[in-house]
Amino acid sequence: MNNAPNYPYDFIDQVLLTQERIEQRVSDIGAQITYDYRDSEKLLLLGLLRGSVMFITDLMRKVHRPLTMDFMSVSSYAGNVSTGFIRIDSDHKTNINGWDVILIDDIVDSGYTIYTIRKLLLDRKPKSLKVCALLDKVDKHKVDISIDYLGFEIPDEFVVGYGLDIDEKGRNLPYIASVNLAKYTAGKSK
Ligand code: IMP
Ligand code: MG
Repeated sequence: MNNAPNYPYDFIDQVLLTQERIEQRVSDIGAQITYDYRDSEKLLLLGLLRGSVMFITDLMRKVHRPLTMDFMSVSSYAGNVSTGFIRIDSDHKTNINGWDVILIDDIVDSGYTIYTIRKLLLDRKPKSLKVCALLDKVDKHKVDISIDYLGFEIPDEFVVGYGLDIDEKGRNLPYIASVNLAKYTAGKSK
């Protein structure tokens, strides 16, 4: 049995983070960013598509500073396996030179995505660059990265919801839930 209300997929295992907890934490991060960037005139929230969309749209409402939003689309995962190779599918439009950039992702797993994109962005000479992620699977890092604004540390489980997906399923859930991978795989072969 799972404790996810009204959910059509049976591969959902359990809700790890409720809508209320996420909302509270996103508010807190927004307040922290508002304070930290109180003197910034050129603040850019740069989200990684598509997983960070729900997070960034909620977060920007809680940042009470002038800001711009932009996106990059990158991929590293095939299904639930990290490939370690980061492909840039579409780049950001803003010339970030001179901007205070916050790179925003949904979840950090091996860390390869943040590690690679951060290096690439630094070459483009922003005024400053920080990293923000909603979730972090700390035990899975394969490279040394630091996250300046973090929502929650989570155990090593595959999760969906609040923008995160498994093969495009589950993104629109308002909470974060773990996936029963055995059930998911069995369901796929039907
Ligand atoms: P990393 O490069 O291994 O750190 O992987 C980061 C990316 O993998 C994230 O931006 C997500 O798109 C994806 N990812 C990692 N773990 C999960 C998960 O549990 N659920 C959904 N997507 C995940
Ligand atoms: Mg992603």
